[in-house]
Amino acid sequence: MKQQTSNIQKQVKKRFRLGAAIGFGLSLVAGQVAQAADSFKPGEVWPDDKGVHINAHGGGVLFHEGTYYWYGEHKIEGTAGNRAEVGVHVYSSKDLYNWKDEGIALAVSDDPESEIVKGCIIERPKVIYNETTKKFVMWFHLELKGQGYSAARSGVAVADNPTGPFTYVRSMRPNAGVWPVNVTEDLKDPESIAKAKGKYFGGGVDENQKQYNVLGADFEGGQMARDMTLFVDDDGAAYHLYSSEHNATLHISKLTPDYLDHAGEYARFFPHRWMEAPAICKRDGKYYIIASGCTGWAPNAARSAVADSIFGPWKELGNPCVGENAEITFGGQSTFILPVQGKDDAYIAMFDQWRPNNAIDGRYVWLPIEFTDEGMKIEWRDEWSLDVFDPK
Ligand code: DGJ
Repeated sequence: MKQQTSNIQKQVKKRFRLGAAIGFGLSLVAGQVAQAADSFKPGEVWPDDKGVHINAHGGGVLFHEGTYYWYGEHKIEGTAGNRAEVGVHVYSSKDLYNWKDEGIALAVSDDPESEIVKGCIIERPKVIYNETTKKFVMWFHLELKGQGYSAARSGVAVADNPTGPFTYVRSMRPNAGVWPVNVTEDLKDPESIAKAKGKYFGGGVDENQKQYNVLGADFEGGQMARDMTLFVDDDGAAYHLYSSEHNATLHISKLTPDYLDHAGEYARFFPHRWMEAPAICKRDGKYYIIASGCTGWAPNAARSAVADSIFGPWKELGNPCVGENAEITFGGQSTFILPVQGKDDAYIAMFDQWRPNNAIDGRYVWLPIEFTDEGMKIEWRDEWSLDVFDPK
């Protein structure tokens, strides 16, 4: 491993200290003639077809009719760069190395009455294609303008084309009035529900929260939903996975056949493990999750889990990252698991290296996943290409 990359931990600290003052990266590449790439360089500036660093953070990738589409948060410069001032950006690629800027798939609104007015928070957008309705359906984590992270809502938008424009449909807190399929009787207890109502917890790890029945308190109004992803199973059924209950517990919720709503069937997993950043894939009939702990923009150790059924039971497997800086996920946080088309057993773990003091400069760490008897293994690579997946 190069000296440069073995210093990720130092870089992360420096990044948080110096923040915007550093301002490195973007302007260096803007305007340069883009050259065709044939490898991934985790953590470096990733120029698009115009030579501009890709702006699709907390993203996910859809493969549709021979083309990959990468959707992500469009960040702006500076410390306020995590607010949605522009919308959800989309890029297209045939080979995963070279990305064409396809513009803004979902634009924020100028209408102060809109839930997605400029200045709201839109995070972790994911898009899936509905074979029946022929619509592209986007879900994202929505925080209403001026309310910090307290709204914890899910937004939905639809489009006829993968690059949009997406039309905003609505937002909701999932599963109002519905108990999870694996609810335990104590969570239905009216006394514990009353005790937990109106309690606000910040969303970070808080052992004090364990005594409160957060699920029950949110039963009527709907469950909180923050970090999220989507997954379409082999049978076409889609699922929404999100950090709920003040981020303490993960929910997996089935979507309606049109993918526009929750179907009323969901389960809760990893109670009080404070898992964020869920990403999921299916391999050889088993479901695998990668997630993170809950430390804001600062990196922590990734987690992983496996299950035979998406509704569990899930078995936690530990940190899939190995080697130097594995304990901080190489400075990143998971966002998506990307199955590579046309290759056997080829899955890419996508992570974001956040730059909270200059959000637009956030970097992408994509690494191949190796499946072992123990689960998943992810090693740092300075540079790699898809031939790592070819049979040896
Ligand atoms: C960590 C989450 O994974 C991000 O998507 C974002 O919500 C930050 N927390 C905000 O602190």
